[in-house]
Amino acid sequence: MHRALALAAEGAGQVSPGPLVGCVIVSPSGEIVGEGFYVYETLKHAETYALEQAGARGRGATVYVSLEPHAHHGRTPPCTDTLINAGISRVISPIKDPNPKVSGKGFAHLRKAGIAVSVGLLTREARQLNEKYLHFMATGRPFVHLKLAASLDGKIATRTGESQWITGPESRARVHQLRHEYDAILVGAGTASVDNPLLTDRSGQARRKSLIRVLLDEGLTIPANTKLVATATEAPLIIFAGQKADTAKLDLLRSSGVEVVIDETNGRDLSSVLTELGARSIQGVLVEGGATVAGKLLEGGLVNKVTFFLAPIIIGGREAPAAIGGAGADRLANALRLRNVEIVRRGEDIEITGYPGKSEE
Ligand SMILES: NC(=O)c1ccc[n+]([C@@H]2O[C@H](COP(=O)([O-])OP(=O)(O)OC[C@H]3O[C@@H](n4cnc5c(N)ncnc54)[C@H](OP(=O)(O)O)[C@@H]3O)[C@@H](O)[C@H]2O)c1
Repeated sequence: MHRALALAAEGAGQVSPGPLVGCVIVSPSGEIVGEGFYVYETLKHAETYALEQAGARGRGATVYVSLEPHAHHGRTPPCTDTLINAGISRVISPIKDPNPKVSGKGFAHLRKAGIAVSVGLLTREARQLNEKYLHFMATGRPFVHLKLAASLDGKIATRTGESQWITGPESRARVHQLRHEYDAILVGAGTASVDNPLLTDRSGQARRKSLIRVLLDEGLTIPANTKLVATATEAPLIIFAGQKADTAKLDLLRSSGVEVVIDETNGRDLSSVLTELGARSIQGVLVEGGATVAGKLLEGGLVNKVTFFLAPIIIGGREAPAAIGGAGADRLANALRLRNVEIVRRGEDIEITGYPGKSEE
């Protein structure tokens, strides 16, 4: 199953709005005879790839598949039929597929055909691998991952607003890998004008859909000569703006290829921003700042995962912005504690990731 999960992860950037799925087929003598993973474009599921490789050796085999096989006619024929016709004897899978068209029906179909089905191996790992898909299926809104780079004293910029670069090359390369795993990236107006970021996926890996860049800018303050606007025809840019936004600026941005969404909350209700992104089948959004947006998302309980890259530098000074805006916790007991924490060294920096709220154990 570890191998099936690792294979599934190879589909990152190429499956949305579907799930990551990997499959390993083990012959009755204990030999791996087939492997596969899903990518959206090829119209073939992980099980089909693995069974094609296995051929006749799939007969009587055990199939390890990282998500419940589907039993309905969708873009592809039912995988359960393919497994039954190949004569496999056992299917081991960590979790049900939450998609209502599939959920529980795949396992039931296999059992009805006399195949032994075991569910529950490496469940936590499988849920984490597909956390964006599972969250999107359950809520219709994107999974929100907040990522910030900070100094040892928790600052995300100097008092003059400089933040490029707090962290080293290893952390920055890792950020491109993170961007690769998301459908969208979101920042506030402050970050867009101070940093003039490009916000593209420069991981060098193939992706199915362009990374959608999302900007919260009620007053349409973004200068037209920023990198975000200048590249809007090559990399999609959606700006959530307010109803009082200047119409000449609106026209200028729209003619530059920017999509401007004007809603009745003036783009300030982050919950409705997420609903709007969900309606566009965006499974996951990586939030890259700044402090104001990060604070509002956290205060609203809208963040599903947090990653901080901490660099061994001290910026100092009361005026340099701290990572998270808003009022903050009044007492330590009310501070937001992360669960299921993972710590990885990136060059001289450390990457700390965790989940706000209850432990997933
Ligand atoms: N180290 C890092 O990881 C990192 C990352 C990003 C940024 N930074 C630094 O952080 C600083 C920028 O942070 P910031 O706090 O000034 O700006 P920010 O969080 O990027 O943007 C805040 C602005 O976004 C607009 N906005 C629109 N809708 C909003 C909503 N629903 N909620 C909150 N804001 C909304 C508001 O401007 P309007 O009122 O004009 O609409 C608000 O002033 C810069 O110095 C930058 O260099 C560091």
